[in-house]
Amino acid sequence: MTAKIIDGKQVSSDIRAEIHGKVASLALKGIKPGLGVILVGEDPASVSYVTGKEKACAENGIASFEYRLPAGISEAELLSCVEKFNADRRVNGILVQLPLPSHIDEQKVIAAIRPDKDVDGFTPINIGKMVLGEDCFVPCTPQGVLELIRRSGVETKGANTVIVGRSNIVGRPLMILMSSKAVNATVTVCHTATTNLAAYCRNADILIACAGKPGMIKAEMIKPGACVIDVGVNRVPDSDSKRGYRLKGDVDYEAAKEVAGWITPVPGGVGPMTITMLLANTVKAASN
Ligand code: GUN
Repeated sequence: MTAKIIDGKQVSSDIRAEIHGKVASLALKGIKPGLGVILVGEDPASVSYVTGKEKACAENGIASFEYRLPAGISEAELLSCVEKFNADRRVNGILVQLPLPSHIDEQKVIAAIRPDKDVDGFTPINIGKMVLGEDCFVPCTPQGVLELIRRSGVETKGANTVIVGRSNIVGRPLMILMSSKAVNATVTVCHTATTNLAAYCRNADILIACAGKPGMIKAEMIKPGACVIDVGVNRVPDSDSKRGYRLKGDVDYEAAKEVAGWITPVPGGVGPMTITMLLANTVKAASN
């Protein structure tokens, strides 16, 4: 069996067409959505993510405002930038790119973001609402994963879903969303202390890899016909590439696609969806 490739670029472009319609109707009311981006330090992956997010805003009629701050900035100075965006009427959504340097209390900075501008869905208020199933901003990568599964027509009701990874940004929100009444999957979360990971994975109708370990999910860990979603975006050295690296997912893609029923590639799977969901959340914030 060769898996159906879930094309994140195509799904993203379909959703961006829907976003264009919403941006156009806001424009008729004199509203232009705005995203405030805060980047601390020069981690190459974070710089590349932020640049991609700002480019996507420009292409989709969303204004972006930014603070690019040195890695040594104090927590108080960073908090004052968050406060400026909180008070700025042009800024509907605020994104603080993670991770932050270790001398800064990440949770304190996130909690300072106004919940109605928290387009990443990371504040305690939005996470609490998500757990309760209330209307809220849902974190972008998990929301993108859900859209990919839904638009691929994969059955989620009662599906054995195994999530490999328990980060605050991806694994934990997915655990809540996949087990919601609306999705109705049966969820198992595996992590670094899980014994016999392969046995859990082999039982999965839907397998979501979000551990940040390149190629860790091998073909023999996949149930034939399963839906495999690869959230990993790992930079691995590659002397053939001009950049000196290439992107590799958490799944051993070439072998896995011969076993799975559906699979997302890296790049071109979940990645484009994260940015698209950020645009959708920013438009939602501007519409409230
Ligand atoms: N770092 C990695 N992914 C994300 C994300 O979705 N949002 C933010 N703010 N930081 C990230």
